[in-house]
Amino acid sequence: MQRVQGDPADLLKLAEGAFAGERDPWANAANAAALLFECVQDLNWAGFYFLRGGELVVGPFQGRVACVRIPLGSGVCGTAAARRATLVVSDVHAFPGHIACDAASNSEIVVPLLAGQRLVGVLDLDSPLLNRFGADDARLLEALAERLVAASEWRLAGIDGF
Ligand code: SME
Repeated sequence: MQRVQGDPADLLKLAEGAFAGERDPWANAANAAALLFECVQDLNWAGFYFLRGGELVVGPFQGRVACVRIPLGSGVCGTAAARRATLVVSDVHAFPGHIACDAASNSEIVVPLLAGQRLVGVLDLDSPLLNRFGADDARLLEALAERLVAASEWRLAGIDGF
């Protein structure tokens, strides 16, 4: 990853430290959002949407006020969730159905949070730069998502999963 402060592996170590001994998904997601916003360069939004009542509902994040509910299949987040696949969008204005929460966003990456077969939510990062995210970012964020999912007890947060 090009624009992480320090070694990308440090981000994972810091996250593991923050999650250690804590099973609450909201607490762990809040710390993950803070770490991402602090350690990853050129972001204007970093945070989570969780699957609640059959749609994505905003969770802990850093950045400007965001849209609260996103149906599965809508926008970048809903598309990544429905496909259960990481989505890297180099220019959000060219993505059909992109949901603009912050007019400053130009590129975006969304990583699904998968607890075994169950999708519990997505991790979403936005950047004011075009083409900000690449394959290295996808790998790092997928590794972080995996650690967050493993560290947390999702039933504690009333998250359905599907
Ligand atoms: N752009 C997202 C919406 C969430 S915000 O970026 C925080 C989307 O199209 O799903």
